[in-house]
Amino acid sequence: MAKLAINGGPKTVTLDDKEATRWPIIGEEEIQAIIEAIKNGRFTSYETIREFESDFAKYHGVRYALAHNNGTSALHAAYFAAGVGPGDEVIIPSYQWHTAITPILACHAIPVFCEIDPKTLTADPEDIKRKITPRTKAICVVHMWGVPADMDPIIEIARDHNLVVIEDVSHAHGNLYKGRKLGTIGDIGCFSLQMGKSMVAGEGGVLITNNYEYYSRAVLLGHYERIPELTKDEYRRYHICNFGFKYRMHPLAAVIARIQLKHLDERNAIRRENMEYLTKGLMEIDGIEPQYIPPYATMGSWYGYRVKYYHEKLGVSKKKFIEALRAEGVRASEERYKLAHLQPMFQDKEKPIRSLLDCPNFRLRLYKKGDLPITEEVVSRLISLPVFHNKGCKELIDQYIEAFRKVVSNIDELK
Ligand SMILES: Cc1ncc(COP(=O)(O)O)c(C=O)c1O
Repeated sequence: MAKLAINGGPKTVTLDDKEATRWPIIGEEEIQAIIEAIKNGRFTSYETIREFESDFAKYHGVRYALAHNNGTSALHAAYFAAGVGPGDEVIIPSYQWHTAITPILACHAIPVFCEIDPKTLTADPEDIKRKITPRTKAICVVHMWGVPADMDPIIEIARDHNLVVIEDVSHAHGNLYKGRKLGTIGDIGCFSLQMGKSMVAGEGGVLITNNYEYYSRAVLLGHYERIPELTKDEYRRYHICNFGFKYRMHPLAAVIARIQLKHLDERNAIRRENMEYLTKGLMEIDGIEPQYIPPYATMGSWYGYRVKYYHEKLGVSKKKFIEALRAEGVRASEERYKLAHLQPMFQDKEKPIRSLLDCPNFRLRLYKKGDLPITEEVVSRLISLPVFHNKGCKELIDQYIEAFRKVVSNIDELK
Protein backbone atom coordinates (compact mmCIF):
# COMPACT_ATOMS: atom_id res chain seq x y z
CA MET A 1 0.00 0.00 0.00
CA ALA A 2 1.14 3.54 -0.79
CA LYS A 3 2.91 5.72 1.74
CA LEU A 4 0.68 7.68 4.13
CA ALA A 5 -0.36 11.13 2.92
CA ILE A 6 0.97 12.63 6.17
CA ASN A 7 4.40 11.40 5.07
CA GLY A 8 4.09 12.69 1.50
CA GLY A 9 2.12 9.81 -0.08
CA PRO A 10 -1.03 10.23 -2.21
CA LYS A 11 -4.32 11.26 -0.54
CA THR A 12 -6.97 8.53 -0.37
CA VAL A 13 -10.05 10.75 -0.33
CA THR A 14 -10.05 12.53 -3.66
CA LEU A 15 -13.81 13.17 -3.95
CA ASP A 16 -15.25 16.41 -2.59
CA ASP A 17 -17.42 15.72 0.49
CA LYS A 18 -19.25 19.07 0.53
CA GLU A 19 -22.34 17.87 -1.32
CA ALA A 20 -22.51 14.54 0.54
CA THR A 21 -22.44 16.21 3.95
CA ARG A 22 -24.45 19.33 3.04
CA TRP A 23 -26.96 20.14 5.76
CA PRO A 24 -29.52 21.53 6.37
CA ILE A 25 -31.46 21.13 3.15
CA ILE A 26 -33.76 24.10 2.72
CA GLY A 27 -35.59 23.77 -0.58
CA GLU A 28 -37.82 25.90 -2.76
CA GLU A 29 -40.80 24.56 -0.83
CA GLU A 30 -39.64 26.17 2.44
CA ILE A 31 -38.68 29.41 0.67
CA GLN A 32 -42.07 29.74 -1.02
CA ALA A 33 -43.91 28.89 2.20
CA ILE A 34 -41.99 31.59 4.10
CA ILE A 35 -42.72 34.20 1.42
CA GLU A 36 -46.37 33.20 1.44
CA ALA A 37 -46.59 33.34 5.25
CA ILE A 38 -45.15 36.86 5.26
CA LYS A 39 -47.43 38.03 2.46
CA ASN A 40 -50.63 36.66 3.95
CA GLY A 41 -49.87 37.61 7.55
CA ARG A 42 -49.67 34.04 8.83
CA PHE A 43 -46.23 34.77 10.24
CA THR A 44 -47.93 36.62 13.07
CA SER A 45 -50.52 33.92 13.67
CA TYR A 46 -50.44 31.32 16.45
CA GLU A 47 -52.39 29.10 14.06
CA THR A 48 -49.19 28.50 12.07
CA ILE A 49 -47.57 27.09 15.20
CA ARG A 50 -50.59 24.93 15.99
CA GLU A 51 -50.58 23.40 12.52
CA PHE A 52 -47.00 22.31 13.02
CA GLU A 53 -47.79 20.98 16.50
CA SER A 54 -50.71 19.02 15.17
CA ASP A 55 -48.53 17.38 12.47
CA PHE A 56 -45.75 16.66 14.97
CA ALA A 57 -48.15 15.09 17.46
CA LYS A 58 -49.73 12.97 14.70
CA TYR A 59 -46.32 11.83 13.43
CA HIS A 60 -45.45 10.62 16.93
CA GLY A 61 -48.90 9.32 17.77
CA VAL A 62 -49.14 11.43 20.93
CA ARG A 63 -51.85 13.69 22.32
CA TYR A 64 -49.81 16.84 22.88
CA ALA A 65 -46.99 18.60 21.07
CA LEU A 66 -45.96 22.00 22.37
CA ALA A 67 -43.62 23.97 20.10
CA HIS A 68 -40.83 25.94 21.77
CA ASN A 69 -38.32 28.55 20.69
CA ASN A 70 -35.48 26.05 21.19
CA GLY A 71 -34.67 22.63 22.59
CA THR A 72 -33.26 24.07 25.82
CA SER A 73 -36.57 25.72 26.68
CA ALA A 74 -38.45 22.51 25.83
CA LEU A 75 -36.19 20.70 28.31
CA HIS A 76 -36.72 23.37 30.96
CA ALA A 77 -40.47 22.97 30.44
CA ALA A 78 -40.11 19.18 30.73
CA TYR A 79 -38.32 19.36 34.08
CA PHE A 80 -40.82 21.90 35.35
CA ALA A 81 -43.71 19.78 34.06
CA ALA A 82 -42.27 16.73 35.81
CA GLY A 83 -42.41 18.65 39.09
CA VAL A 84 -38.64 18.90 39.44
CA GLY A 85 -38.06 21.52 42.15
CA PRO A 86 -35.58 22.80 44.74
CA GLY A 87 -33.43 20.03 46.15
CA ASP A 88 -34.71 17.32 43.83
CA GLU A 89 -32.23 15.18 41.93
CA VAL A 90 -32.28 14.33 38.24
CA ILE A 91 -30.13 11.48 36.95
CA ILE A 92 -28.49 12.24 33.62
CA PRO A 93 -25.29 11.23 31.81
CA SER A 94 -22.35 13.62 31.92
CA TYR A 95 -21.61 12.92 28.25
CA GLN A 96 -24.04 15.01 26.19
CA TRP A 97 -24.76 18.57 25.22
CA HIS A 98 -24.79 20.68 28.38
CA THR A 99 -28.20 22.24 27.78
CA ALA A 100 -29.99 19.06 28.78
CA ILE A 101 -28.35 19.61 32.18
CA THR A 102 -28.50 23.34 32.78
CA PRO A 103 -32.33 23.60 32.85
CA ILE A 104 -32.17 21.26 35.86
CA LEU A 105 -30.26 24.04 37.62
CA ALA A 106 -32.91 26.53 36.47
CA CYS A 107 -35.38 24.45 38.53
CA HIS A 108 -32.97 24.72 41.49
CA ALA A 109 -32.57 20.98 41.30
CA ILE A 110 -29.43 18.87 41.30
CA PRO A 111 -28.00 16.97 38.34
CA VAL A 112 -26.64 13.59 39.37
CA PHE A 113 -24.41 12.15 36.69
CA CYS A 114 -24.59 8.50 35.70
CA GLU A 115 -22.25 6.44 33.56
CA ILE A 116 -22.89 5.73 29.91
CA ASP A 117 -23.06 2.33 28.30
CA PRO A 118 -19.75 2.09 26.39
CA LYS A 119 -21.49 0.65 23.32
CA THR A 120 -24.46 2.99 22.85
CA LEU A 121 -22.88 6.04 24.59
CA THR A 122 -26.25 6.57 26.31
CA ALA A 123 -27.34 6.28 29.97
CA ASP A 124 -26.38 2.96 31.57
CA PRO A 125 -29.48 1.50 33.29
CA GLU A 126 -27.42 -0.30 35.96
CA ASP A 127 -25.69 2.92 36.97
CA ILE A 128 -28.99 4.83 36.96
CA LYS A 129 -30.17 2.32 39.54
CA ARG A 130 -27.09 2.90 41.68
CA LYS A 131 -27.55 6.68 41.59
CA ILE A 132 -31.14 6.71 42.89
CA THR A 133 -31.68 8.36 46.30
CA PRO A 134 -34.88 9.37 48.14
CA ARG A 135 -34.52 12.79 46.45
CA THR A 136 -34.45 11.49 42.88
CA LYS A 137 -37.36 12.87 40.88
CA ALA A 138 -36.55 12.19 37.23
CA ILE A 139 -34.21 10.54 34.76
CA CYS A 140 -33.17 12.30 31.56
CA VAL A 141 -32.04 10.01 28.76
CA VAL A 142 -30.25 11.50 25.75
CA HIS A 143 -30.28 9.37 22.59
CA MET A 144 -26.73 10.27 21.65
CA TRP A 145 -25.96 10.92 17.99
CA GLY A 146 -29.24 9.18 17.17
CA VAL A 147 -28.57 5.88 18.98
CA PRO A 148 -31.55 4.97 21.16
CA ALA A 149 -30.82 4.25 24.81
CA ASP A 150 -32.00 0.86 26.03
CA MET A 151 -35.39 2.13 27.18
CA ASP A 152 -37.06 -1.02 28.59
CA PRO A 153 -34.84 -1.41 31.67
CA ILE A 154 -34.84 2.36 32.21
CA ILE A 155 -38.64 2.49 32.20
CA GLU A 156 -38.76 -0.45 34.57
CA ILE A 157 -36.41 1.26 37.04
CA ALA A 158 -38.42 4.47 36.76
CA ARG A 159 -41.72 2.68 37.44
CA ASP A 160 -40.22 0.85 40.42
CA HIS A 161 -39.08 4.14 41.98
CA ASN A 162 -41.86 6.44 40.81
CA LEU A 163 -39.57 8.58 38.63
CA VAL A 164 -40.44 10.63 35.57
CA VAL A 165 -38.54 9.72 32.40
CA ILE A 166 -37.63 12.55 30.04
CA GLU A 167 -36.22 11.62 26.64
CA ASP A 168 -33.99 14.15 24.91
CA VAL A 169 -34.51 13.27 21.26
CA SER A 170 -32.55 16.21 19.86
CA HIS A 171 -30.19 13.86 17.97
CA ALA A 172 -32.71 11.24 16.98
CA HIS A 173 -35.83 12.61 15.27
CA GLY A 174 -37.90 9.77 13.87
CA ASN A 175 -35.61 7.00 15.15
CA LEU A 176 -37.17 3.87 16.64
CA TYR A 177 -36.62 1.70 19.69
CA LYS A 178 -38.12 -1.77 19.12
CA GLY A 179 -40.39 -0.18 16.52
CA ARG A 180 -41.54 2.67 18.80
CA LYS A 181 -40.80 6.31 18.09
CA LEU A 182 -38.27 7.89 20.41
CA GLY A 183 -39.80 10.55 22.61
CA THR A 184 -42.94 8.49 23.14
CA ILE A 185 -41.49 5.78 25.40
CA GLY A 186 -40.76 7.90 28.46
CA ASP A 187 -43.21 10.37 29.98
CA ILE A 188 -42.05 13.43 28.07
CA GLY A 189 -40.01 13.77 24.86
CA CYS A 190 -38.00 16.88 23.96
CA PHE A 191 -36.53 17.83 20.61
CA SER A 192 -34.23 20.57 19.39
CA LEU A 193 -34.82 21.83 15.83
CA GLN A 194 -31.67 23.95 15.72
CA MET A 195 -30.03 24.00 12.29
CA GLY A 196 -27.66 21.06 12.67
CA LYS A 197 -30.47 18.68 13.65
CA SER A 198 -32.13 16.10 11.39
CA MET A 199 -35.11 18.38 10.95
CA VAL A 200 -34.60 22.08 11.39
CA ALA A 201 -36.55 25.24 12.13
CA GLY A 202 -33.59 27.62 12.23
CA GLU A 203 -34.04 27.61 15.99
CA GLY A 204 -36.82 25.64 17.61
CA GLY A 205 -37.85 22.90 19.99
CA VAL A 206 -40.81 20.66 20.75
CA LEU A 207 -42.10 18.95 23.88
CA ILE A 208 -44.39 15.94 23.42
CA THR A 209 -46.39 13.95 25.94
CA ASN A 210 -49.58 11.99 26.40
CA ASN A 211 -50.08 13.37 29.88
CA TYR A 212 -52.42 16.32 30.32
CA GLU A 213 -50.86 17.40 33.63
CA TYR A 214 -47.37 17.56 32.10
CA TYR A 215 -48.74 19.41 29.09
CA SER A 216 -50.56 21.92 31.31
CA ARG A 217 -47.52 22.59 33.46
CA ALA A 218 -45.36 23.10 30.36
CA VAL A 219 -47.95 25.62 29.14
CA LEU A 220 -47.81 27.38 32.53
CA LEU A 221 -44.07 27.79 32.37
CA GLY A 222 -43.68 29.37 28.97
CA HIS A 223 -46.92 29.83 27.01
CA TYR A 224 -49.06 32.35 28.89
CA GLU A 225 -51.33 32.92 25.89
CA ARG A 226 -52.59 29.35 26.18
CA ILE A 227 -53.24 29.29 29.90
CA PRO A 228 -56.91 30.34 29.51
CA GLU A 229 -57.47 27.24 27.33
CA LEU A 230 -56.40 24.83 30.07
CA THR A 231 -59.36 22.96 31.46
CA LYS A 232 -58.37 22.88 35.13
CA ASP A 233 -58.80 25.87 37.42
CA GLU A 234 -55.65 24.99 39.30
CA TYR A 235 -53.72 25.94 36.12
CA ARG A 236 -56.04 28.57 34.62
CA ARG A 237 -55.85 30.80 37.67
CA TYR A 238 -52.27 31.73 36.64
CA HIS A 239 -53.34 33.30 33.39
CA ILE A 240 -52.64 36.92 34.35
CA CYS A 241 -49.49 36.54 36.33
CA ASN A 242 -47.46 33.43 35.56
CA PHE A 243 -43.98 32.02 35.59
CA GLY A 244 -42.03 34.59 33.65
CA PHE A 245 -40.81 32.71 30.60
CA LYS A 246 -41.92 33.17 27.02
CA TYR A 247 -41.04 30.03 25.17
CA ARG A 248 -43.32 29.89 22.16
CA MET A 249 -41.92 29.18 18.72
CA HIS A 250 -41.61 31.88 16.07
CA PRO A 251 -44.34 31.25 13.47
CA LEU A 252 -41.81 31.36 10.62
CA ALA A 253 -39.80 28.64 12.34
CA ALA A 254 -43.03 26.61 12.52
CA VAL A 255 -43.54 27.07 8.76
CA ILE A 256 -40.09 25.62 8.05
CA ALA A 257 -40.38 22.86 10.68
CA ARG A 258 -43.69 21.68 9.22
CA ILE A 259 -42.15 21.15 5.80
CA GLN A 260 -39.02 19.57 7.28
CA LEU A 261 -41.20 17.08 9.17
CA LYS A 262 -42.89 16.10 5.91
CA HIS A 263 -39.47 15.14 4.51
CA LEU A 264 -38.01 13.60 7.66
CA ASP A 265 -38.65 9.94 6.85
CA GLU A 266 -37.31 10.12 3.31
CA ARG A 267 -34.19 12.00 4.48
CA ASN A 268 -33.73 9.56 7.35
CA ALA A 269 -33.85 6.70 4.84
CA ILE A 270 -30.93 8.22 2.89
CA ARG A 271 -28.88 8.81 6.05
CA ARG A 272 -29.67 5.30 7.27
CA GLU A 273 -28.31 3.74 4.07
CA ASN A 274 -25.16 5.87 4.07
CA MET A 275 -24.29 5.48 7.73
CA GLU A 276 -24.96 1.74 7.82
CA TYR A 277 -22.74 1.39 4.75
CA LEU A 278 -19.95 3.29 6.52
CA THR A 279 -20.41 1.21 9.69
CA LYS A 280 -20.21 -2.06 7.77
CA GLY A 281 -17.06 -0.90 5.98
CA LEU A 282 -15.26 0.10 9.17
CA MET A 283 -16.22 -3.09 11.01
CA GLU A 284 -13.27 -5.25 9.98
CA ILE A 285 -10.52 -2.70 10.55
CA ASP A 286 -8.13 -3.36 13.44
CA GLY A 287 -7.77 -0.99 16.35
CA ILE A 288 -11.02 0.89 15.79
CA GLU A 289 -14.70 0.24 16.47
CA PRO A 290 -17.37 1.94 14.37
CA GLN A 291 -20.47 3.48 15.93
CA TYR A 292 -22.52 0.68 17.46
CA ILE A 293 -26.05 0.33 16.14
CA PRO A 294 -28.06 -1.77 18.61
CA PRO A 295 -30.25 -4.54 17.17
CA TYR A 296 -33.32 -2.89 18.76
CA ALA A 297 -32.71 0.38 16.89
CA THR A 298 -33.91 1.79 13.59
CA MET A 299 -31.73 4.77 12.92
CA GLY A 300 -32.10 7.35 10.17
CA SER A 301 -31.55 10.46 12.16
CA TRP A 302 -27.83 10.89 12.84
CA TYR A 303 -26.52 14.05 14.48
CA GLY A 304 -22.96 12.79 14.48
CA TYR A 305 -20.92 9.64 14.09
CA ARG A 306 -18.33 8.33 16.52
CA VAL A 307 -15.55 5.79 16.05
CA LYS A 308 -13.72 4.35 19.05
CA TYR A 309 -9.96 4.26 18.80
CA TYR A 310 -7.80 1.74 20.68
CA HIS A 311 -4.34 3.31 20.90
CA GLU A 312 -3.02 0.35 22.90
CA LYS A 313 -3.70 -1.95 19.94
CA LEU A 314 -2.10 0.31 17.33
CA GLY A 315 0.66 1.87 19.44
CA VAL A 316 -0.02 5.43 18.26
CA SER A 317 -1.81 8.28 20.02
CA LYS A 318 -5.34 9.23 18.95
CA LYS A 319 -4.11 12.72 18.10
CA LYS A 320 -1.53 11.35 15.66
CA PHE A 321 -4.06 8.92 14.19
CA ILE A 322 -6.53 11.78 13.55
CA GLU A 323 -3.78 13.84 11.93
CA ALA A 324 -2.98 10.95 9.60
CA LEU A 325 -6.66 10.50 8.69
CA ARG A 326 -7.03 14.21 8.00
CA ALA A 327 -3.99 14.15 5.76
CA GLU A 328 -5.71 11.35 3.80
CA GLY A 329 -8.69 13.70 3.33
CA VAL A 330 -11.00 12.28 6.04
CA ARG A 331 -12.85 14.97 8.00
CA ALA A 332 -12.04 13.34 11.33
CA SER A 333 -11.82 15.33 14.52
CA GLU A 334 -11.58 15.11 18.30
CA GLU A 335 -14.73 14.66 20.38
CA ARG A 336 -16.36 18.08 20.75
CA TYR A 337 -18.74 17.30 23.64
CA LYS A 338 -16.90 17.91 26.88
CA LEU A 339 -17.91 15.96 29.96
CA ALA A 340 -20.19 18.09 32.12
CA HIS A 341 -18.97 16.73 35.45
CA LEU A 342 -15.48 18.01 34.68
CA GLN A 343 -16.63 21.58 33.93
CA PRO A 344 -16.22 24.44 36.45
CA MET A 345 -19.96 24.44 37.14
CA PHE A 346 -19.64 21.05 38.85
CA GLN A 347 -16.10 21.37 40.15
CA ASP A 348 -15.97 24.47 42.29
CA LYS A 349 -18.29 26.15 44.72
CA GLU A 350 -17.51 29.63 43.51
CA LYS A 351 -19.30 32.55 41.96
CA PRO A 352 -21.48 31.83 38.95
CA ILE A 353 -23.95 29.65 40.78
CA ARG A 354 -23.82 31.43 44.10
CA SER A 355 -27.53 32.19 44.12
CA LEU A 356 -28.29 28.51 43.61
CA LEU A 357 -25.89 27.46 46.30
CA ASP A 358 -27.63 29.82 48.70
CA CYS A 359 -31.00 28.22 48.08
CA PRO A 360 -32.52 26.25 50.99
CA ASN A 361 -32.32 22.48 50.37
CA PHE A 362 -29.95 23.00 47.51
CA ARG A 363 -26.54 21.46 47.59
CA LEU A 364 -24.97 21.12 44.18
CA ARG A 365 -23.01 17.90 43.85
CA LEU A 366 -19.39 18.47 42.94
CA TYR A 367 -17.25 16.08 40.95
CA LYS A 368 -13.63 15.36 40.17
CA LYS A 369 -11.79 13.45 37.49
CA GLY A 370 -12.18 9.73 38.08
CA ASP A 371 -15.75 9.95 39.42
CA LEU A 372 -17.19 8.48 36.20
CA PRO A 373 -14.36 6.19 35.10
CA ILE A 374 -16.27 4.35 32.35
CA THR A 375 -17.57 7.53 30.74
CA GLU A 376 -14.17 9.21 30.97
CA GLU A 377 -12.41 6.24 29.38
CA VAL A 378 -14.90 5.69 26.56
CA VAL A 379 -15.15 9.36 25.62
CA SER A 380 -11.36 9.66 25.51
CA ARG A 381 -11.41 7.09 22.69
CA LEU A 382 -13.90 8.86 20.45
CA ILE A 383 -13.15 10.21 17.01
CA SER A 384 -15.82 12.23 15.24
CA LEU A 385 -16.73 11.74 11.58
CA PRO A 386 -19.25 13.69 9.50
CA VAL A 387 -22.75 12.49 8.74
CA PHE A 388 -23.48 11.74 5.08
CA HIS A 389 -26.89 13.29 4.59
CA ASN A 390 -27.27 13.07 0.84
CA LYS A 391 -27.68 10.58 -1.96
CA GLY A 392 -24.92 9.37 -4.26
CA CYS A 393 -22.00 9.28 -1.87
CA LYS A 394 -21.12 5.56 -1.71
CA GLU A 395 -17.88 6.12 -3.60
CA LEU A 396 -16.86 8.83 -1.17
CA ILE A 397 -17.71 6.57 1.80
CA ASP A 398 -15.59 3.84 0.17
CA GLN A 399 -12.71 6.30 0.11
CA TYR A 400 -13.25 7.11 3.79
CA ILE A 401 -13.16 3.41 4.65
CA GLU A 402 -10.09 2.93 2.49
CA ALA A 403 -8.36 5.83 4.26
CA PHE A 404 -8.92 4.16 7.66
CA ARG A 405 -7.63 0.88 6.29
CA LYS A 406 -4.57 2.57 4.81
CA VAL A 407 -3.64 4.40 8.03
CA VAL A 408 -4.09 1.23 10.12
CA SER A 409 -2.11 -0.92 7.65
CA ASN A 410 0.74 1.60 7.64
CA ILE A 411 0.58 2.44 11.34
CA ASP A 412 4.32 1.79 11.74
CA GLU A 413 4.97 4.90 9.65
CA LEU A 414 3.47 6.94 12.49
CA LYS A 415 5.57 5.45 15.28
C1 LIG B 1 -28.76 16.62 23.09
C2 LIG B 1 -29.18 18.06 23.01
N1 LIG B 1 -30.10 18.51 23.88
C3 LIG B 1 -30.51 19.78 23.85
C4 LIG B 1 -30.01 20.67 22.94
C5 LIG B 1 -30.45 22.10 23.02
O1 LIG B 1 -31.18 22.48 21.93
P1 LIG B 1 -31.22 24.00 21.43
O2 LIG B 1 -29.87 24.33 20.90
O3 LIG B 1 -32.27 24.00 20.37
O4 LIG B 1 -31.58 24.85 22.59
C6 LIG B 1 -29.06 20.25 22.01
C7 LIG B 1 -28.51 21.20 21.03
O5 LIG B 1 -27.53 20.97 20.36
C8 LIG B 1 -28.62 18.91 22.05
O6 LIG B 1 -27.72 18.44 21.19
